Amino acid sequence: MIPKETIDSIYDSVRIEEVVGDFVTLKKRGVNLLGNCPFHDEKTPSFTVSPVKGIFKCFGCGKGGNSINFVMEHEQYSYPEALRYLAKKYNIELIEEEQTPEQIEKANARESLFVVNSYARDYFKDSLHKSNEGKAIGLSYFKERGVSSKMIDKFQLGYNPEGWDAFTKSALDNSYKIEFLEKTGLSIVKDNRSFDRFRGRIMFPIHSMSGRVLGFGGRILKKSEKAAKYLNSPESNIYHKSKVLYGIYFSKSAIVKQDNCYLVEGYTDVISMHQHGIENVVASSGTALTSEQIKLIGRFTKNITILFDGDSAGIKASFRGIDLILSEGMNVKVVLFPEGEDPDSYAITLGQEKIQSFISDKAQDFLTFKTNLLKDESKNDPIKKVKLINEVVNSIAMIPDEITRAVYIRECSKLLYIGETEITNKIIDIKRSGRQNSNVPRAEKKPAQENNVKTVKQNVSSSEHQEKDIIRFLLEYSHQMVEFDRNKMYVAQFIISELENEIEFSNPNYQLIFDAYCHALAEEELLKQEFFTLHKNPNVSRLAADIISSPHSMSKRWKDHGIYTETEDMQLKPAVETAIYSLKIAKIGELIHDKNEQLKIATEDTEFEILSEINNLSKLKKEISAKLGRTILK
Ligand code: CTP
Ligand code: MN
Repeated sequence: MIPKETIDSIYDSVRIEEVVGDFVTLKKRGVNLLGNCPFHDEKTPSFTVSPVKGIFKCFGCGKGGNSINFVMEHEQYSYPEALRYLAKKYNIELIEEEQTPEQIEKANARESLFVVNSYARDYFKDSLHKSNEGKAIGLSYFKERGVSSKMIDKFQLGYNPEGWDAFTKSALDNSYKIEFLEKTGLSIVKDNRSFDRFRGRIMFPIHSMSGRVLGFGGRILKKSEKAAKYLNSPESNIYHKSKVLYGIYFSKSAIVKQDNCYLVEGYTDVISMHQHGIENVVASSGTALTSEQIKLIGRFTKNITILFDGDSAGIKASFRGIDLILSEGMNVKVVLFPEGEDPDSYAITLGQEKIQSFISDKAQDFLTFKTNLLKDESKNDPIKKVKLINEVVNSIAMIPDEITRAVYIRECSKLLYIGETEITNKIIDIKRSGRQNSNVPRAEKKPAQENNVKTVKQNVSSSEHQEKDIIRFLLEYSHQMVEFDRNKMYVAQFIISELENEIEFSNPNYQLIFDAYCHALAEEELLKQEFFTLHKNPNVSRLAADIISSPHSMSKRWKDHGIYTETEDMQLKPAVETAIYSLKIAKIGELIHDKNEQLKIATEDTEFEILSEINNLSKLKKEISAKLGRTILK
């Protein structure tokens, strides 16, 4: 835990122009600074930094927020990681809060594993570059395979010598405890003797999101041995295979920037892609793809392109991948490589330019990919054709979002000459019988319930727009004095008196901002904009920055409503009233909608009650609409 005082002093010290300036070249433009947005490709700069407000905003892609948000977005850090980064940049001493003895012990044990891994990484690197054995066997192997020294350095590749215990011995000599060497799996202890797990292998460190070493993959160099080609670290307190993606640390910014992630099978594929200029790539290395790994990619992009071998194992793996990705609600494309080639070998065959265009030209939507592949096989064979249709429809049934699903049903109907109704019915069948897909193992399936909740959530907030309007008035005009109902009061006071306990915001961050104003006002305090743009909750600060920097023209909106007045005070009053009434009307509209839904399943007993509630709500809605009309016409 980072103590609150430290967080405060980080917030006090950061200068947005300095934080952004480390990554973006900024030019002065009036009171603001301008540069090319690091979050999307652009030629004319639309990325603005406001030193006064402490925020950034891109008018091209819409990203915005404070310094912490920027670092989180740019470096793909978590909130504490971003704080640590900024503390370091501003030389703020970071003493993390005291923990319970159990927490300390647990943290220490985990930390010790990281420390051991980090020692091992350095040892393997040294042994590759400096020892005769490493140079003669390891380095020359990389050279032969065409791995550049830049990549060897970037991915921190190394070599674990042959023999029994060269590494373990050196670690023990340097006072690392055998307990942790064993727990990381770097050493194996048997009958009171300890020796190296990865003897005579080149070593691939596996990094966490923030670049710490979680474990290793080791490839054997001698051919035709009984030993497995790759050996991986065992599961440990810090290494959970199913939750790790090889290469994510080196690829995350490119994934965000390209808004797409290439998924490959192996360590060497990731490294080779990087060497050939394709940096948005990760591998599930050492395990079959899991839904946790897909969720991890989902933090950076909703688009995944699978790059697998063209052999039958590769195709099978990609089928499984497709369904898993679809069921996570993400988009999936596939590039099939010629049989016998993997992304690594084919990149070497084609060279940088051709491999890049091969991948972008050959990427097929999952539906086209599956259909084309199976169509040839089943040409004049009706039984096979039915199998094909089932296979494709099964994948479509995995898609949680109804609209996306509908789009694919239409596409599938065109491709396979089957009616949309037939496909839809089939999907209903699949969902009902729970036979949903044969490619994804049961345990990884999502309960149907969850999907439903998602769809409902997306439809709920029809008053989002009106809610946002209220929050904007609070953020921008809360301190303005206006005469409402013949009483002079602050805009914030009026808004709160009208809405407090009356409505609930469907966006939790709006609710948070609204509540903060309520609490402050109860203490006779008016909150400043900075309270929110520099808020500790990154969602709130991002939202606040977004709202206050969204280009909106008050006067235009009012003219649309037929309002034209001279002074700002006089404009502000009807604008605030309009926003309040509009929100109330929207909320009542939602309530009426809900009641109508209830009516559909009502019994005779409850029907009357619901009808009278609807009646009352409609009356109320009319009254407020009348007020709104008067406000607009005033
Ligand atoms: N793998 C593994 N254990 C094995 C074989 C493979 O963990 N015994 C994993 C490794 O992460 C490997 C990936 O599966 O990178 C793909 O395997 P494969 O295609 O056999 O290896 P390549 O990555 O192509 O490696 P190389 O080109 O060095 O043979
Ligand atoms: Mn290979």
